[in-house]
Order: sequence, then C-alpha cells, then structure tokens
Amino acid sequence: MKIAVIQGPNLNMLGVRERNIYGAMSLEQIHEQLKASASQNGVELEFFQSNLEGEIVDRIQECLGTVDGIIINPAAYTHTSIAIKDALSAVALPTVEVHISNIYKREEFRQKSITAGSSTGVITGFGPFGYHLGLIALTQIINEIKAIEEAQKQQQAK
Ligand code: DQA
Repeated sequence: MKIAVIQGPNLNMLGVRERNIYGAMSLEQIHEQLKASASQNGVELEFFQSNLEGEIVDRIQECLGTVDGIIINPAAYTHTSIAIKDALSAVALPTVEVHISNIYKREEFRQKSITAGSSTGVITGFGPFGYHLGLIALTQIINEIKAIEEAQKQQQAK
C-alpha cells in the first residue's frame, strides 16, 4: 500500500515557526517517525511539501493511479483554495486532512476548511501525532476498500 503525504505552505518551517502553536518538531522529524510506523505496517509513504498552490494541485493529480490514498495538510490553503479542493475531488482517492492545531479553537478565518469537503475525514488539534492518527485511519479505509474490491472480483469469477 502506498500513501502520499502532502504538506502545504510554511510547514517546512515547523520547529521554528510559532512553536507555542505547532510544537518543536521539524517536518523532517515528523516524516521520519511517520515513515517508521508506516513501514512496520507495510505501508510506503511518499512525502511532498510545497509553498505553491499550483504545485500542490499538480502533486494531487499525480496521485491518480500511483498511490492508494492521501494524507494532506493544506495549511493556509485549507481556508482559501478551491483549486486544491477540486483536485482532491478530481482524483477521488481516500483522503485524510490533518491539522496540527485545532483550527476550530483559533481565529474565525481558520475555522472554515474549504478543502475538507473533498476529504474522507479530518483530524485537527492533536499536534504532530495527528499524522499518525491519519495514517491509522487511512490504512483502515484503504484495507476496507481493497477487501470489498476483492470480494467483488471473486463474486464475478463465480
Ligand atoms: C494548519 C492550520 C492552518 O490554519 C495554518 O495556516 C497552517 C497550519 C495546522 O496544521 O494546524 O499553516 O494547517
């Protein structure tokens, strides 16, 4: 099973940026930990970070036919990007949106996610651990989809 982890703008500054909100871990450290727990479960992760909306749209489009699901933190684009929302809807892959902070506890402009409507579910407010929760949830969903597809195949073969 292959999962793309897509990180939006300013997440490359984790560990430096507003540590009182986002914590002390760098993006590299978060990815290292995530990779370790993924590989224990036979899951391969592909990491991507960009500060540019179009590059994130391109990366989402590339996911079609190459990965089984997406973990995405669109960061500030969460609240503004119809293009990212549309890209997620276009590829229609199982997707978990993750936010390190609890966006519902913050400024009003952060309390609306435009992109979430194109995701399977959202995890928000559990710090970097949210990525692990996202991985567990997504692995479960993908396994369920694979099991249903397998059962349908066997049914058709009868
Ligand atoms: C964030 C929340 C966003 O509002 C913010 O713009 C970010 C990070 C989070 O992970 O908590 O850059 O997505």
